[in-house]
Amino acid sequence: MFARAVGVIGTGYVGLTTGACLASLGHRVVCADIDENKINRLRQGDPVIREDGLAELVTEGIASGRLSFAVGAAAALAELAAEGTPAEVVFLCVPTPMGVGGVADLSAVEAVIEETRATLPTGCVVVNKSTVPVGTSVRTAELLDRADVGVVSNPEFLREGSAVHDFLHPDRIVVGSEQQDAAERVAALYARLGAPTVLTDAASAEMIKYAANCFLAMKLSYVNAIAELCERLDADVTDVTEGIGYDRRIGQSFLSPGPGWGGSCLPKDTHALLQVSDSVDFEFRLLRATIDTNIRQYQRMVDKIRLAVTGRRTGSLSRRRIALLGLTFKAGTDDLRNSPALDVAALLRQAGAELVAYDPAVDASDPRIDQNLVLVSDDPYVAAKNAEAVVVLTEWPEFRTLDWSRMAEQMDTPRVIDTRNLLDRDVLRRSAVEWVGLGRRAA
Ligand code: UDX
Repeated sequence: MFARAVGVIGTGYVGLTTGACLASLGHRVVCADIDENKINRLRQGDPVIREDGLAELVTEGIASGRLSFAVGAAAALAELAAEGTPAEVVFLCVPTPMGVGGVADLSAVEAVIEETRATLPTGCVVVNKSTVPVGTSVRTAELLDRADVGVVSNPEFLREGSAVHDFLHPDRIVVGSEQQDAAERVAALYARLGAPTVLTDAASAEMIKYAANCFLAMKLSYVNAIAELCERLDADVTDVTEGIGYDRRIGQSFLSPGPGWGGSCLPKDTHALLQVSDSVDFEFRLLRATIDTNIRQYQRMVDKIRLAVTGRRTGSLSRRRIALLGLTFKAGTDDLRNSPALDVAALLRQAGAELVAYDPAVDASDPRIDQNLVLVSDDPYVAAKNAEAVVVLTEWPEFRTLDWSRMAEQMDTPRVIDTRNLLDRDVLRRSAVEWVGLGRRAA
């Protein structure tokens, strides 16, 4: 394989994973970030974020000389140029947060282009990896205003927590551009992975990312609605999803009901596509319903908790002590952005409940947590003390192996509302803990 000189701008979970994995595939990669402190930590081999396998790849990359770090995009380009191998591909992996009205905020992308446009080597390719609105490649080319530089859209499909695995074992690689040679050059970076590659135009590549994430969100809202219906009709959602999942057109994955879907991608991307649809006068009702169903899901979790704790649909949660297991938006990450657990916590707090939480990835003194919302404990048994209910909000596997008899001893009322259907209800029954799941029949 022909190794390329690559710049990666932005060292979030997408950028750093991309950089470290491309280095492991044999390319020479310089990762850049504007955060000097972060770059210093990365240079010491500390990946800053929690991502399986990333620390090892960063350490190996540094040791092999294929991976290094620079403060700022211009410095990354200069480092490659100084080695006599000017950047051939530059990945933009900077945040594109949800701005006003759900429109993606592209100021970080624009700032990098502004910083690098004069120094990008002739013939290099600028790649958008961030999820950007359809049409951004065209806009990027306009801002660059460099006929000698290619622009390619190469969306990522990395899940937080398994980003390294997803990068190295992709279901597909998507590369879109108006310039076929530039697209082929980017696709070649991944050649060793042997994944199916979709070569298309830039707008279609950008659309693929939105269409995939919105479909996943729709699948989850659908399954959450089916779980609610199961409760009303005395059916069991676990059997229902197993039964539909064997249909290869549906598939078994992404069918677990939960307290709502969240994270840094699905909420942002669903809103952004809705906004784009509005802008071209398309009323995307299915997508709007997907989002609305999710927002309603948080309140539905509170209603379930209220019923379990007070025995009444309209009972008061005021001053009722509730322990929360899990605060991150899913297991395997320390990311709290758009976490459904925090949305449910906020509604419980509004209803007057007193909340104590335990999460293996969140410290008691974590500055990201508002102490007025929820107190965090470093010990699940302490969190459960005097609680009238324990609510499982994140599917951390270790919650399954807690000593549930000991948990029950701590609690005021041994009761669990398991919004992830995570725990083994037989174990809980043997520990004399009442268990309420989502869409499950009474055992
Ligand atoms: C997602 C996409 O999966 C990924 O392809 C894209 O690049 C970025 O967005 P991520 O946000 O890391 O990845 O999380 P993901 O594992 O997809 O989970 C999203 C949300 O759905 C989480 O809140 C998760 O708990 C929830 N979820 C997922 C369920 O409730 N049930 C499931 O069966 C799967």
